[in-house]
Amino acid sequence: MNCDPIARWYRWLEYAGFGGALQRRRTAFLRDVADARRVLLLGEGDGRFLVELVRQNRGASIDYVDLSRRMLERARRAGDGVNYRQGDALTIPLPESEYDLIVTHFFLDCFEPAELTRLIGRAARAARPDARWLVSEFREPSAWARAVVRMLYWFFRVTTGLKTSRLSDHRPLLAECGFRLIREERARAGLLVSELWSRAQSPP
Ligand SMILES: C[S@@+](CC[C@H](N)C(=O)[O-])C[C@H]1O[C@@H](n2cnc3c(N)ncnc32)[C@H](O)[C@@H]1O
Repeated sequence: MNCDPIARWYRWLEYAGFGGALQRRRTAFLRDVADARRVLLLGEGDGRFLVELVRQNRGASIDYVDLSRRMLERARRAGDGVNYRQGDALTIPLPESEYDLIVTHFFLDCFEPAELTRLIGRAARAARPDARWLVSEFREPSAWARAVVRMLYWFFRVTTGLKTSRLSDHRPLLAECGFRLIREERARAGLLVSELWSRAQSPP
């Protein structure tokens, strides 16, 4: 997948298709993670969640990872306090047991099942034993939602060369890595979902 060609238009395409709905999903549980101090954002794109996170979690040490150089350039407006890394989340070296928060917004849908298993395993190993994980994703609870998701995959295949053409379920994979879903919010008749997962023994 190469998002360089659409990086400039990404935000406007999103607003045209969904208004502010995706950003509301990204930030749904932002306040719940106000105490996070060591954060890994994977596939963060143009950085709209990052800007909000930096504004709220002042002093947090944040690692941003994205494959797209142009997306990364746009994300830089979040400021210099972030460690920006251009690279493949499937192969880029990650520290062990380091992060207290992992963030993947509209990113897990970019992977085939085997890749997704690998990706989640890697990120889970990089997370501390009591870490949390924020996810925003699409879901297909109805024929209408399936049609929207199919259209999105078509769009990303044509514009970025995305290989995947269907959603894989990340939830059993997160559960296998010890995470439990502690909060969930749905929007747009279940098409969009925000999830907060935790590996802490007794999450707040
Ligand atoms: C659908 S966009 C989502 C961007 C953003 N997280 C959002 O909420 O809109 C997917 C992003 O993941 C990045 N990406 C795709 N495959 C990747 C990989 N293997 N490693 C790192 N980033 C990747 C793309 O460059 C793009 O910025």
